[in-house]
Amino acid sequence: MFEHNYDLSRFVTDLRRITGEESDESGIVRRIAPLAGKLAATPGFMTETDENYDEAQGFCLRLLHEEPDHSNAVFLFSWLPGRGTPAHNHKTWGVVVGVEGEEKETWWRRVDDGTQAGYAQLEPLSERRLTPGDVSSFLSDDIHTVCNDTERVSWSLHIYGRHINHTGRSEFDPVARTEKAYVLNVA
Ligand SMILES: [Fe+2]
Repeated sequence: MFEHNYDLSRFVTDLRRITGEESDESGIVRRIAPLAGKLAATPGFMTETDENYDEAQGFCLRLLHEEPDHSNAVFLFSWLPGRGTPAHNHKTWGVVVGVEGEEKETWWRRVDDGTQAGYAQLEPLSERRLTPGDVSSFLSDDIHTVCNDTERVSWSLHIYGRHINHTGRSEFDPVARTEKAYVLNVA
């Protein structure tokens, strides 16, 4: 079900209340997930978007909201066909909702102990497809790869505990077994 008058402003009010009440990441994503789904399903939500793709990056992220301290960050991502991310963590909790098109998520398990700088050994854990209305959530140290492996642009709504360029997170190369800082271009 959707509410015609649920919008970004009301979602941000809910987001502030929940993150003010909860400190446990699992509890936060459990409460945010259905509200993020409701926002993404609200008629007219996508009319606020543009098609400003970042050809070099392969996807575009548009910041819809963040607090002055970079918490409670809300983004709309658009993914070009055949493009995606390297494996990465977030160093904050996150909730993602499919809005249009499809995305493939590959989840990884880190098997080294993380004590060697620049080194990381990952093993594939699982895959899933994110379609419109699907909600995916993760905690700070979860690692995934996201790819639009279809022939049309896809869109998804992303909510993070903190703006992902301000968490000190990492990208990984599972073949070369490397880890380095991961920072994105924001439209
Ligand atoms: Fe991610």
